[in-house]
Amino acid sequence: MSEPRKILVTSALPYANGSIHLGHMLEYIQTDMWVRFQKQRGNQCIYVCADDAHGSAIMLRAEKEGITPEQLIANVQAEHSGDFADFLVDFDNFHSTHAEENRELSSQIYLKLRDAGHIATRSITQYFDPEKKMFLADRFIKGTCPKCGTEDQYGDNCEKCGATYAPTDLKDPKSAISGATPVLRDSQHFFFKLPDFQDMLQAWTRSGTLQEAVANKLAEWLDAGLQQWDISRDAPYFGFEIPDEPGKYFYVWLDAPIGYMASFKNLCARRPELEFDAFWGKDSTAELYHFIGKDIVNFHALFWPAMLEGAGYRKPTAINVHGYLTVNGQKMSKSRGTFIKARTYLDHLAPEYLRYYYASKLGRGVDDLDLNLEDFVQKVNSDLVGKVVNIASRCAGFIHKGNAGVLVAGNAAPELTEAFLSAAPSIAEAYEARDFARAMRETMALADRANAWIADKAPWSLNKQEGKQDEVQAICALGINLFRQLVIFLKPVLPLLAADAEAFLNVPPLTWDDHTTLLSNHQLNEFKPLMTRIDPVKVQAMTDASKEDLVASQTDTGAAPQGNGELAKDPLSAEIDFDAFAAVDLRVALILKAEAVEGADKLLRLTLDIGDEQRNVFSGIKSAYPDPAKLEGRLTMMIANLKPRKMRFGVSEGMVMAAGPGGEEIYLLSPDSGAKPGQRIK
Ligand code: 2FM
Ligand code: ZN
Repeated sequence: MSEPRKILVTSALPYANGSIHLGHMLEYIQTDMWVRFQKQRGNQCIYVCADDAHGSAIMLRAEKEGITPEQLIANVQAEHSGDFADFLVDFDNFHSTHAEENRELSSQIYLKLRDAGHIATRSITQYFDPEKKMFLADRFIKGTCPKCGTEDQYGDNCEKCGATYAPTDLKDPKSAISGATPVLRDSQHFFFKLPDFQDMLQAWTRSGTLQEAVANKLAEWLDAGLQQWDISRDAPYFGFEIPDEPGKYFYVWLDAPIGYMASFKNLCARRPELEFDAFWGKDSTAELYHFIGKDIVNFHALFWPAMLEGAGYRKPTAINVHGYLTVNGQKMSKSRGTFIKARTYLDHLAPEYLRYYYASKLGRGVDDLDLNLEDFVQKVNSDLVGKVVNIASRCAGFIHKGNAGVLVAGNAAPELTEAFLSAAPSIAEAYEARDFARAMRETMALADRANAWIADKAPWSLNKQEGKQDEVQAICALGINLFRQLVIFLKPVLPLLAADAEAFLNVPPLTWDDHTTLLSNHQLNEFKPLMTRIDPVKVQAMTDASKEDLVASQTDTGAAPQGNGELAKDPLSAEIDFDAFAAVDLRVALILKAEAVEGADKLLRLTLDIGDEQRNVFSGIKSAYPDPAKLEGRLTMMIANLKPRKMRFGVSEGMVMAAGPGGEEIYLLSPDSGAKPGQRIK
C-alpha cells in the first residue's frame, strides 16, 4: 500500500454579493467530486473555500440596502452555505475573506514582498466622483463612446461598436454611482512588481502545472512582457487597510487568493492533525490544486504564484481550469428562464441529477459545457434510473422473498466480475485526471453489461420454474454485487445514492478498494426505491420560476443585481434626460383586487383601477404581503405605459412601484390621501 497523499483543494471564492447559480455550481460540483474521489481512495484531502467579501461593489450594494457590509456578507454567506450543502458540496471549511486570519496573512505577505523590494509606488490619475467622494473604477463610469458616439457606454469599452478605450477618452463622462461629472485626481498607488518573476513564471507555467491550452494563452501574455500590478485602492473601500499606509486598501484581488490560505488556517485551529506549514511552507510535500473558471486564469497562474514565491511560500501543484456553462446551447439568459439560481433548481429537482449530468459531460479541457435540459432528463432517466438503480430493483425482491434477504455465496459469472475488476483502474485514472465523462462512460458500459447478463438469465422466468430457485438466488446475488460495484464507482458523484445503497446493502461506507471483494452469505436490509425518474414538468417549472425570479427583481426596485459586473449597469444610478422621464406614464392606481398566483412563489396578481381602465399586473411582492387581501382598497403608483409582458400566468400590463431590499422589506409606494386613481405624476 502506498502512503496516503496529502492534498489541499480549493474552488474559486464566490463574491459575497449575489446568489449562486448553476454556472457557479459547475465548478463546485466538479471540485467536490474530485475531492470525494480522493477521500474514497484513502487520501488525506482537504477542501476549503470562502466568500470573497471585499471590494467596492459589495460596499455599494450594502449601502443601497441600508445595511453594513458586514451584515450583507453574513446574510450572503448563510445563503451560499445552504446552497452548497444542499448540492452536497462538502467543504472541510467555508470561510470568508473578511476574517482575521486573512487580514494577518495578507499583511504578512505584503510586508514580505515590500521588504524584498517587490512593491513600487507611484501616482496615478483617475476619475473621482466629487459627490460620492470616491475614485471610480472603469465600470463605474459611463459616457458617450469616442468612436461611434453611442451614449451610455461603460468606461472601458463600447457595447455597440466594440471599441476599447481609457475612461478619460469617453465623451461626457458621468459617475454611474451618483450621476455627477467626475473630475481627474491624482493618488499614490502601490504596485506588485510582477516582471521580477518573469523567469520563474515562464518555467512554472510550462512545468505541467497547467492544461496545454491555458499554458499557451499564458505564453502570449508572458511573451508580451508582464506589467506591474496595481494592488491598492483608496478609501472609501471595503477591505483591509495596507500596513503603514492609512487610507490605502488592498485591492480585492490581492487578498482573495490569500483567502484560500486563511480558510485553511481557520480550519487548522479546529483540526489539530492539520499543520499549516505542512501544506503551505516552502518545502511542503503536500499537493495543492485550485479549480477555477477560464476568466480568472491571470490571477491564479501569474499573480498568485508570483506572490507566493515572493513571500516564501510553496506554489500550486496545478491550476485546473474549466469552461463556462451554457444552457440549451446559449449563454444563460434571464428572460429565457435559463439563468437558474442554485436554490431555484433545488426547489424543483434533486441535486444528484445535476451532479451526474455535469459529470457525464465534464472532460479535462477548458471547453464550455452545455446543459441541454431535454438531454438532461433523458440521460439521467436512462442511465441512473434505467441502468444502475434498475439492477438492484430487479434483483432485491427475489432475494427477500426467496432467501430472507440473504445473498448466497458464489459467483455466477466470473468473466463478468473480472470485467468489473479490470475496469476499475481505468475509471480511477479518469477521475484522477478529472475526466469525469470518461469515468461515467466506462461505468455505464459496465452497467449495460450487467443488465444484459441479467436480461439473458431472466430470473423472473426461472423463478416460475420448478427446481430453479438456487439459480435465481445465484443470479440475483451477483446482480446485487454488480450493483454494489457500480455504486463504488459512482460514489464521488452520487453521495446520497451511495449512502442509501450502503443502508440497503447493510455495509459500512464503501471505499474504493471494496470493489475487489464480493458480498457473500450476507444479509441485506429492506429495499427502498433509490431514485425516481425526472419528470419534465419539474424542469419546466424550474425555468418558469427562473423567469419569475426575474420579474420579482424587476418589480422590487431595491433588488440586488447579480455579481459585481452588473452593479454598474444599475439603471437607477444613471442620469436620464427630461424627455425620457416625460415618456413614462406614471399614475395613481387603486388596488381593486390582490391575490396570490397559484404555482408562483413570489408573485401577486393585482387588479388595478387607473381611472379610465382596469389593468392586470403581476408583481413580485408576495414575500412582503403574505395576506394580499389587505392591499385591496389601497392606492399605489404604477407605470402604465410599460410594454405588456406575457407570462406563464397571463399578461402583465404595467408595473407597480416599490422600494426596499427584498424579502419582507418591500414597501409599496402610495400617494398622499386625496389622490384619485388615474391621476398622472407631473
Ligand atoms: O471571479 C470571482 O468570482 C472571484 N470572486 C474569484 C476569486 S478566487 C480567489 F482568488 F479568491
Ligand atoms: Zn462605440
